[in-house]
Amino acid sequence: MFAVLCTVLAVLAVACLWVILYDTHHFVTVKYSLSLPFVKKDTRIVMISDLHNYCYGKENGRLTEAIDALKPDMIVLAGDMITSDAREKFDGTMKLLKRLNERYPVYYAYGNHEQKIQLYKKYENMGKKFEKALEETGIRPLRNTHVELAERGITIYGLEIDHSLYKRLSRDPLPEGCMKQLLGAPRQETCRILIAHDPEYFPDYAGWGADLVLAGHIHGGIVRVPFLGGVISPSLWLFPKYDGGLFREGTSTMVLGRGLGTHSPRVRLFNPAELVVVDIGTQKGEQN
Ligand SMILES: [Fe+2]
Repeated sequence: MFAVLCTVLAVLAVACLWVILYDTHHFVTVKYSLSLPFVKKDTRIVMISDLHNYCYGKENGRLTEAIDALKPDMIVLAGDMITSDAREKFDGTMKLLKRLNERYPVYYAYGNHEQKIQLYKKYENMGKKFEKALEETGIRPLRNTHVELAERGITIYGLEIDHSLYKRLSRDPLPEGCMKQLLGAPRQETCRILIAHDPEYFPDYAGWGADLVLAGHIHGGIVRVPFLGGVISPSLWLFPKYDGGLFREGTSTMVLGRGLGTHSPRVRLFNPAELVVVDIGTQKGEQN
């Protein structure tokens, strides 16, 4: 009996290891279709979040091919394209970003990793190197600013909350009036798309007036359990409410990507990396 139990456990462990290897080296494409107010033209957004310097194929060739095949109208980068580790190189990421910027409009809001390399001494000159490399790609990040795409009826906002809000094991509320202070009053008669790395403040984003929030950060909860969802967030919350997928708050919708890369721990289980496609238009109805 003991031998049988050991064999079953060993088989399960090998199967889990195989799934971990698969999920951390492959991505799936997940599509959402939404109807949103004031949109004048059908628009396909491809969202990349939490790449964390991972390369799919040489210089991210495999990822580029997948994106090109989707024929996007624009690319949204929802933060943590790099990892705040001075030992890591971000050349592959920058080559991907430069290539994307040559082919598509790219809208980029920083995640906690882009923020912290510029804030803390322990990262030495990594922040400066990153800024210089990003400038060479031609991409100008949206750091609490916006861009209006009048022909599409869309305004894209890039949110950067104070880095101190990314705490582990505790969560402070956003200070009163913070959203308006950072982004100003929401523009009227336009579809307001908010790129906000951290999904935890979705009710605040909705309260401010975001029609669509594009977020990342949670990595799908790292390990996913059927019926329970993602197990742990980067802030070490167990079973985070926002773990990946589509969420609603009043008239606001959030698409939360499970990310394309990993960092401490470099593990995904039953939680493959995701390339997210959001088709938005004025049509009625929606499907996942
Ligand atoms: Fe993050």
